[in-house]
Amino acid sequence: MRNDPIGVFDSGVGGLNVLAECVRLMPNEKFIYLADTANMPYGSKPPSDIKRAACACANALFAMNCKALVVACNTATVTAIDDIRALYGTRVVVGLEPSVKPCFRELGKNGYAVALVTQATYASDKLARLLETCDGRIIPIARPELAKLIEDNIGDISKVGRHVFDILEPYRDAESVVLGCSHYTYIKDIINEFYDGDVKIYDGATGAAERLKYCLALSDIQTENAAGGGVRFYKTVGDGIVAD
Ligand code: DGL
Repeated sequence: MRNDPIGVFDSGVGGLNVLAECVRLMPNEKFIYLADTANMPYGSKPPSDIKRAACACANALFAMNCKALVVACNTATVTAIDDIRALYGTRVVVGLEPSVKPCFRELGKNGYAVALVTQATYASDKLARLLETCDGRIIPIARPELAKLIEDNIGDISKVGRHVFDILEPYRDAESVVLGCSHYTYIKDIINEFYDGDVKIYDGATGAAERLKYCLALSDIQTENAAGGGVRFYKTVGDGIVAD
């Protein structure tokens, strides 16, 4: 068990940011990354479709002998992590939630923040519960198109710059931006440029990796390998999974 890999999945490239943090914190663990590209984007699908896709990813990764799972996707976490945990109750399953709480804690007295999220995350009870303690000072913005736009332009992310500037224009005086979708890590520099560097950006990737490390220790299933773990990459194609 100890030396088995850890499964990480997202609908596409977004979860790679979470994976990178996991590898940085736990370099001796082995990881398997699954990009569910056949079902991308998750964020504009109804909850039942997201649950089906996310549970299929969890099934596939546990079938590859993973000892733990990271749901490296905000949309899949808020929509399907309870279902995944119901299926795999005894396993370590870590999710990715928008960093609303740390953002609100650090918000200036008169400041406000925006939380960029997918449509499905926007509509979720979990986001509503996170926001209800924030005095209306974290404004959620649903962008059904943005994750796919980022995925399609990952080779030259500057191409989405104008689009991101247009989204942020009404919120020029925001103090902080919460990245409520793992794909949005790729537009951090664009957001910084829009605010001339005068903005705090909250990304849940590091928190998720820290949580994974903590849960592995708690369950006493950290690897004994001291020689570096490595990552294997897979993606979904149609109804199947292929090495990437
Ligand atoms: N990367 C996913 C997230 O963190 C969503 C992208 C998608 O819509 O597929 O929410």
